[in-house]
Amino acid sequence: MTASPARALPRIVSASFQAGATAADQFPPPTLVEVAFAGRSNVGKSSLLNCLLQRKSLMRTSSTPGCTRQVNFIDVQSQDDAEMLLVDLPGYGYAKRSKTERRSWGTLIESYLLDRATLSGVVLLVDVRRGLEDEEYQLLDLLNGPARVSRRPLNIIVVATKLDKLPNSERKLALIKLAKDSRQPRIVGFSAKDQTGRDELWRRVRQAAGLDPTALIEQS
Ligand code: GTP
Ligand code: MG
Repeated sequence: MTASPARALPRIVSASFQAGATAADQFPPPTLVEVAFAGRSNVGKSSLLNCLLQRKSLMRTSSTPGCTRQVNFIDVQSQDDAEMLLVDLPGYGYAKRSKTERRSWGTLIESYLLDRATLSGVVLLVDVRRGLEDEEYQLLDLLNGPARVSRRPLNIIVVATKLDKLPNSERKLALIKLAKDSRQPRIVGFSAKDQTGRDELWRRVRQAAGLDPTALIEQS
């Protein structure tokens, strides 16, 4: 039996900034399915979104941590008429912020992740060189735990970012370790610099949003 060729991915036809929120009452009405991008400050969330959406500077990026300071909602439409919101979250773990500021941002991210009825998937970005630390384990617990609204369990995608910074020979082992530590069947290795993993991630994001059937994929 021959394996069937991978189905062509519907192209993104538009990606536009819809809203930026610094408080929960500024979130747009929950109408479209959403997939959010979470991770440590500077891990590459905004760069990954620009790469995924093939837009050079839709989201602002910076080499200084703490660049994204609000919850940003981006409306994305594909060739097959599917529409969803991708949500860029402010990064956590930025020590230079004041305690009060860190606490209020933590509350904002937590309230988004636990109270958002239209949230269907969360992409957790991890720097491939750092692996999982306390904050990532806490976030995974929160995502795997009960929500405060009625919704289906979240689809979680773990992405190892900045893969280009690791020598080729070390990449496979790092991804296997991340899969084991996060208890995820497969980690997406990604680089915004050379676009590694871009198509695979787009496929997984569409699946997480319920737009495509889930395929069984093994870490190879
Ligand atoms: P915050 O908004 O502070 O939470 O950061 P962020 O997670 O959105 O990170 P951002 O996309 O702003 O990227 C941080 C820095 O990492 C920038 O200097 C990017 O150019 C760099 N960067 C992001 N992704 C990659 C990558 O895949 N490879 C390399 N080499 N650098 C990357
Ligand atoms: Mg950012």
